[in-house]
Amino acid sequence: MQIDIVKDYDILSKKAAQIISAQIIQKPNSVLGLATGSTPIGTYRELVRMCKEGIISFADVVTFNLDEYYGLDEDDPQSYHYFMREYLFKEIDIKDANAHILDGKAADVEAECRRYENCIKEAGGIDLQLLGIGQNGHIGFNEPGENFEALTHLVNLHPDTIRANARFFNSIDEVPTQAITMGIKTIMRAKKIVLLANGESKAEAIYQTLKGKITPRVPASVLQLHPDITVIIDEAAAVKL
Ligand code: F6R
Repeated sequence: MQIDIVKDYDILSKKAAQIISAQIIQKPNSVLGLATGSTPIGTYRELVRMCKEGIISFADVVTFNLDEYYGLDEDDPQSYHYFMREYLFKEIDIKDANAHILDGKAADVEAECRRYENCIKEAGGIDLQLLGIGQNGHIGFNEPGENFEALTHLVNLHPDTIRANARFFNSIDEVPTQAITMGIKTIMRAKKIVLLANGESKAEAIYQTLKGKITPRVPASVLQLHPDITVIIDEAAAVKL
């Protein structure tokens, strides 16, 4: 595990974008696992810049997002489909058919989860998975207590997660209570992982993830076992290390 503690969010974003762009240059048809939330916004901004300047191209890149709220239509401004379009996809040269996100409106959720896993397998597996982390140590929407063996599945969001994500909605009552997420096993199968965290609100989760016991109570702690992970955190997220 490589741990990079950087001064601020701007440097964190640039470092993460450097790793992703190097991956794309080395393998133009890379399969990327992507995250949403506040943390990767700066990274996506950098990738957009590099793409517009002709440094990298997403023409042959394939992406799989970690998760989607259950019950939200892809045109809902709170959906992760919408988020990805706004912050990344509409600004780069990725082909629509290559940008995969779970269908939050799927009538048969189990079939949707199986379809997604098969699609990842057919693409050759994820080369590089980008992750943020919840204040409760979740990755994707794998909440504390989730089985490390799980593949893509439907989850009930933890009240902490609903509270943390309420900032994106008009009121807490509008936050969906369920989501579909890649499982821990899906994430652990990625060949390379880059975990990002910034701000003091993530300090305890980062401490537990990097220095604590490996336990499903802190889902991200399983990452200690991954053979190729880079953790990039700012000084505020590193205060407890
Ligand atoms: C989002 C995701 C979540 C977030 C986490 C942190 O796709 O999978 O695990 O990475 O909730 O969210 P932010 O970055 O908003 O603090």
